[in-house]
Amino acid sequence: MPLKVFKANKDDLVDLFNLANDPLVRKNSFNKKEITMAEHKHWFGNQIDSNNSLILIAKKDGKFVGVVKFKLEDENIIGISIAKYFRGKGLSNSVLTEAIEYLKKDRPEIKIITALIKEENIASVKTFEKSGFKFDQKIKVNESPSLKYIYEI
Ligand SMILES: CC(C)(COP(=O)(O)OP(=O)(O)OC[C@H]1O[C@@H](n2cnc3c(N)ncnc32)[C@H](O)[C@@H]1OP(=O)(O)O)[C@@H](O)C(=O)NCCC(=O)NCCS
Repeated sequence: MPLKVFKANKDDLVDLFNLANDPLVRKNSFNKKEITMAEHKHWFGNQIDSNNSLILIAKKDGKFVGVVKFKLEDENIIGISIAKYFRGKGLSNSVLTEAIEYLKKDRPEIKIITALIKEENIASVKTFEKSGFKFDQKIKVNESPSLKYIYEI
């Protein structure tokens, strides 16, 4: 079965919590602090009710592969995380492509997506470049030397 993306719902709370606290995900985030379940529940409740947020779950053969999050304000910041057991299998490009296709249909008014990537996160840079994101500039995000990539729809 091909990989598909779905809008997140409350059944995804635990998968998202576990992935958010995965050591590589925390390391590559701009806020490295571990997340408590209480914080996660509060955050998730706000996100799924918000018009400024879109959280998409990627599944393959019914299994949770990863998540793509869009913060739909100003620059429309995108984030991607693949679950540990699906990493390194070349799935990130399909996950991103499917998520962008979903966004295009769901929010046709959006014309630009921005990715902010820590400079040393090579797998992420390759993933975004392969999916059509173009390098824009070097910037610092929370003191971390980072790269800004742009995708024009
Ligand atoms: C970044 C991430 C989504 C990439 O997904 P992935 O499943 O690991 O990557 P893929 O197997 O699809 O490979 C994508 C590319 O990165 C390369 N790559 C994968 N892991 C790598 C690693 N550890 N070091 C260097 N390159 C790596 C692959 O060779 C591939 O490059 P290619 O297309 O030139 O062959 C995933 O590693 C992840 O969830 N990381 C933690 C969260 C994160 O960093 N998110 C991004 C924040 S901006």
